[in-house]
Amino acid sequence: MNAIEKTNDFVFQTYLRQGKAFVRGEGSFLWDEDGKKYLDFLSGIAVCSLGHCHPRITKAITTQASTLVHVSNLFYTRPQADLAAKLCEKSFADRVFFANSGAEANEAAIKLARRYFQKKGEKNRFKIIAMEQSFHGRTMATLSATGQDKIKEGFYPLLEGFSFVPFNNINALKEKIDETVCAVMLEPVQGEGGIIPADPEYLKAVRELCDKTGTLLIFDEIQCGMGRCGTLFAHELYSITPDIMTLAKALGNGFPIGAMLAAKDAATGFDYGSHATTFGGTPLAAAAALEVVNIISEKAFLDQVCTRGQYFKKQLENLKDKHDQVIDVRGKGLLLGLELSLEGDTNAAFFVEKLMGKGFIINGIQDKILRFAPSLIIENSEIDRLISVLDTIL
Ligand SMILES: Cc1ncc(COP(=O)(O)O)c(C=O)c1O
Repeated sequence: MNAIEKTNDFVFQTYLRQGKAFVRGEGSFLWDEDGKKYLDFLSGIAVCSLGHCHPRITKAITTQASTLVHVSNLFYTRPQADLAAKLCEKSFADRVFFANSGAEANEAAIKLARRYFQKKGEKNRFKIIAMEQSFHGRTMATLSATGQDKIKEGFYPLLEGFSFVPFNNINALKEKIDETVCAVMLEPVQGEGGIIPADPEYLKAVRELCDKTGTLLIFDEIQCGMGRCGTLFAHELYSITPDIMTLAKALGNGFPIGAMLAAKDAATGFDYGSHATTFGGTPLAAAAALEVVNIISEKAFLDQVCTRGQYFKKQLENLKDKHDQVIDVRGKGLLLGLELSLEGDTNAAFFVEKLMGKGFIINGIQDKILRFAPSLIIENSEIDRLISVLDTIL
């Protein structure tokens, strides 16, 4: 039995996989079992942002793996301490809770927001307003916070207290917010919802509304953070800060780690025993993430993401000018989406498959959007290669 057959026989069939098994990765390239080489414009869904097997990350992991892997959070370790301090130094935050995934980081954010007000005696202030089309994860709380009905089917009843408003519509939020709302939760650039960036005036108005009503503002930067949009954190593009922010995906460049960061006041919501996880911030995960943050937070690195992102977007816009099927190009930095107007049975999956045949990996979201999240070290010449093939397919 090969890897595909075995997986199909023994792993829950919850993922619609493409018929390839990969055996090796280096930089922006992947190789399948037959030795075929692919240019990866997905990076494990915005995870391997420094490219596959980046030598500095591999070194950080192997060195730490042969020194100390895990001791539990009943003790202190240097990598966790250094990573927490670094994340705070580079952001608005004063405290970090480490988790193992994006959903877990968001669980921590939801729990912190609720407990912050419960602790103050505001027992009825537990509601969370999230956005339509948002995606915050697949655990019960994060599914409850997700604004996409189709992935909730079969799991009702979900958690109480979550409601949704249209993204980029400040009046809808104004109408809904009251003294029972503990937090507003959103992605500065919606990922799974279709690569939809927040409007700058909208995000500013959300911050002001939260300040006015004393509501906590949670930014889920699991997909759009960690340099993906050309700044270390996506909200830096908007010159505002949240009270709570979640990270995962690219934080470990493939090594699983999530983090929930909070500013001083919001952070008072958690005390000893309020929240915990066995694997959160192990020395191994923290060592990997620390090296990721060291690399991605360099100004020259982020400047390069901006220029490559602008170049890529321009090339996609050229395709839009040329082909009627392309109706929109959007996104920030190197998180880009191309929306197609499609007829008949042709959907995004058609393009994904065609591109795969030609040696390019991308993915489709919401049936008609092509998502591009290449490594942040992608070269312009590699972008050109994808554009040329996409041009032909279109
Ligand atoms: C914005 C956002 N939040 C949360 C998650 C959930 O992260 P994870 O799959 O690591 O639980 C994702 C995953 O795609 C995401 O894109």
